[in-house]
Amino acid sequence: MLVLGIETSCDETAAAVVEDGHRILSNLIYSQVKTHAAFGGVVPEIASREHLAKIRPIVDQAITDSGKSLDDMDGIAVTAGPGLIGCLLVGLTYAKALAFSKRKPLVAVNHIEGHIYSVCFEYPEIEFPALALVVSGGHTNLFWVETKTGNFKHLTYRLIGRTRDDAAGEAYDKVGRLLGLQYPGGPVIDRLAKLGNRNAHTFSIPKISDGALDFSFSGVKTAVLRLVREGNLIPKNEAESREDPQRLDILASFQEAVVQMLWSTTAKAAAQLKPRSLMLSGGVAANSRLKEYLGEKAAEAGLDFYFPKPIFTSDNAAMIAAVGTAKLLRGETSGMDVSPDPNWRLA
Ligand code: KG4
Ligand code: ZN
Repeated sequence: MLVLGIETSCDETAAAVVEDGHRILSNLIYSQVKTHAAFGGVVPEIASREHLAKIRPIVDQAITDSGKSLDDMDGIAVTAGPGLIGCLLVGLTYAKALAFSKRKPLVAVNHIEGHIYSVCFEYPEIEFPALALVVSGGHTNLFWVETKTGNFKHLTYRLIGRTRDDAAGEAYDKVGRLLGLQYPGGPVIDRLAKLGNRNAHTFSIPKISDGALDFSFSGVKTAVLRLVREGNLIPKNEAESREDPQRLDILASFQEAVVQMLWSTTAKAAAQLKPRSLMLSGGVAANSRLKEYLGEKAAEAGLDFYFPKPIFTSDNAAMIAAVGTAKLLRGETSGMDVSPDPNWRLA
């Protein structure tokens, strides 16, 4: 089965052609990050306009690169939420037009479900039930995932934990901004933290007192703010920061606190629910320390640990096509009246 995937929920215009849900024939991502870096974050109106300019060339190129034609597609999968409304509208409207004109099935996909499927390209077969930790700039969610078919063809989800305040990626981006680092802060902090001492500062890991399996990152962010104020730290770029041990230690310690917070809730969930696997996904799943730490801890807890290749951690359309394939195989399609849902909850 051949599926064209389209993703425009935030600041990446992406299109991909995927065969049988996991063989990638093409995967194009146009990132707007340089446009938004000047503003220190994504500007929704500018993002929508860039999607509008890029959607057609990106989709055309993805089809050309796949060696197939639009007529060969068995369906068109598109992100319909969650995300920025204006951005979602561009991808969804374009996908509808293609599906209508070529009489192809249309399937609306949840972006978060896409992230969960992003591990399927390297691991088409994984052991369920699983915990899926989705960590991105907009979300930090922990799902209990079961399968009705033994594989990715039919997953079901239960939300068991989420952030009470900032998303993990958002905390990275805010801390980056506090210290004058370029947006998005996550990748820069990942690089700089390797040069610092992660035990230099101890940030207390917030305890969720009502027993819920939730996360919280705003306390760690505030602790960094305090250190920045106490040390009178002025904004510095990445190159200047590399020469400043004080800053490197703060960043390394901040990252360690985020990573430990992510594991402490996941560990509690694993002890209670006894999954067979842990699936990590979302933009922050590119983080080298997070992968290393979760890898060690998951092994100790007897969990198989799966995470996507870096190209699939950030927003992409291959993961959307993968979900679309599973839905089409189950006979699930969307009508031409489907609307974008900026707050679409997976579970
Ligand atoms: O999934 P994604 O591309 O977009 C959303 O759906 O939000 O995630 C983007 C987020 C940003 O906050 C970015 O700083 C973070 O992922 N990120 C990282 C790394 N690479 C991207 N955070 C920590 N370490 C990284 N290496
Ligand atoms: Zn995302």
